[in-house]
Amino acid sequence: MHKTYVHPLPVRLWHWINAVGFLLLILTGVHIRYVGVFDLMSFRTAVTLHNWIGFVVIADYFVWLLFYLTSDKIVNYVPDLNARRLFTKAFRQVRYYGYGMFVGEKDPHTVTPYDKFNPMQAMLYSVVMLIVAPIQFYTGILLWDVQRFSAQVEFFGGVRIVDTIHVLIFAFFIVYIFMHAYLGALGRPWTAHYKAMFTGWEEEH
Ligand code: HEM
Repeated sequence: MHKTYVHPLPVRLWHWINAVGFLLLILTGVHIRYVGVFDLMSFRTAVTLHNWIGFVVIADYFVWLLFYLTSDKIVNYVPDLNARRLFTKAFRQVRYYGYGMFVGEKDPHTVTPYDKFNPMQAMLYSVVMLIVAPIQFYTGILLWDVQRFSAQVEFFGGVRIVDTIHVLIFAFFIVYIFMHAYLGALGRPWTAHYKAMFTGWEEEH
């Protein structure tokens, strides 16, 4: 068996706090958006919890950001600038997800500490962590206190626009979590990547 240390402690801590935080934000968010449809808690409790958990998730984000900004592991998030190589690798990976893995082929990407993501993961994680999540945090802060941030809310076209962006990204994250949890279960055995995200070590048999 071959073992590779791929997920340093700050990344693992950030990730699981983030995952639980997002699930709770979705649960409380559903209560705020669809008042009366689900009845686990009152509207007021949902708003209070949503705000507090939101701030925890934002603070947690800086654990991820500061870790990568101060570590040479940031290369994992730097895209391959050779377009031909990037396209070939991405195509191979898509083919594997769509066909190869169903007929027992080996994953074309080999995980190493400085090249741990396949091209699809690298692109998706970069967009999620550097664009989508920060927009969600920003719109969330504006909606937390629309009076205090009224100038910025008006600049973006009013509460309805800011709220629509926040709700659309909320829908994106619901789909993302399902896809991400499914793809995370494609290791061999299916628990392999989950185990690695807890222990830090990716094991290859
Ligand atoms: C139930 C919720 C979740 C589960 C079960 C889960 C599972 C996993 C697993 C197994 C991995 C390791 C495999 C890999 O690198 O692809 C991983 C990595 C990752 N996940 Fe999640 N995840 C969840 C929620 C989230 C959320 C909500 C986000 C972002 C908002 C997220 C972002 C990431 C990122 C960026 C990585 C790579 C981290 C790094 O090594 O830098 N995950 N996740």
